[in-house]
Amino acid sequence: MKTCLVAGGSGFIGSWLCKDLLKKGYRVICADNNITGHKSNISNILSNSNFSYIEQDVSQPMKISEHVDYVFHLASPASPVHYQKYPVETLLANSLGTLNLLNLAKENRKRRLTGAMSIPTGHGRATTKEKDSRKHWYQAFQASHGLLSGYSTLTGHT
Ligand SMILES: NC(=O)c1ccc[n+]([C@@H]2O[C@H](COP(=O)([O-])OP(=O)(O)OC[C@H]3O[C@@H](n4cnc5c(N)ncnc54)[C@H](O)[C@@H]3O)[C@@H](O)[C@H]2O)c1
Repeated sequence: MKTCLVAGGSGFIGSWLCKDLLKKGYRVICADNNITGHKSNISNILSNSNFSYIEQDVSQPMKISEHVDYVFHLASPASPVHYQKYPVETLLANSLGTLNLLNLAKENRKRRLTGAMSIPTGHGRATTKEKDSRKHWYQAFQASHGLLSGYSTLTGHT
């Protein structure tokens, strides 16, 4: 049985992904610090013997004791409402979090890290505060993107 690590697995997208992966016959490890997610999103799979939940901030050093076949990075408070409330946490999740998950994938000899980022869209009449938070979001996006492309150049992985 292959094992998937879903970082951000108790969030909106991550919780659906965890459930879908279990249905498809994978073992799933969900790592989340619940900054914007809720354990209630995964309450119906917590007792599944192929599912494990660990409370983990991905921007902190990570130790996963078992072999991981696939790594999904959805651990970011990057939705438009949350990145305005958590600009520093978003930057850390997208920078150190991405780096930690890339290193974990590398340790497990995996060639691919899958993640999702939304694009901040705006209308002409944004306030200065809204413009500032889009700028923070964009910097977080660039940190994540820069790490992925740097890693890809060094290792030839995607
Ligand atoms: N929801 C959408 O429509 C949509 C669309 C495109 C892209 N995305 C992107 O997908 C990702 C997930 O979005 P979502 O809607 O599921 O958001 P969400 O806030 O529901 O889920 C994010 C999850 O990550 C966790 N998390 C955040 N920082 C963490 C950290 N440092 N360590 C561990 N866990 C952490 C949160 O607690 C939460 O459970 C985001 O990057 C978002 O930008 C979302």
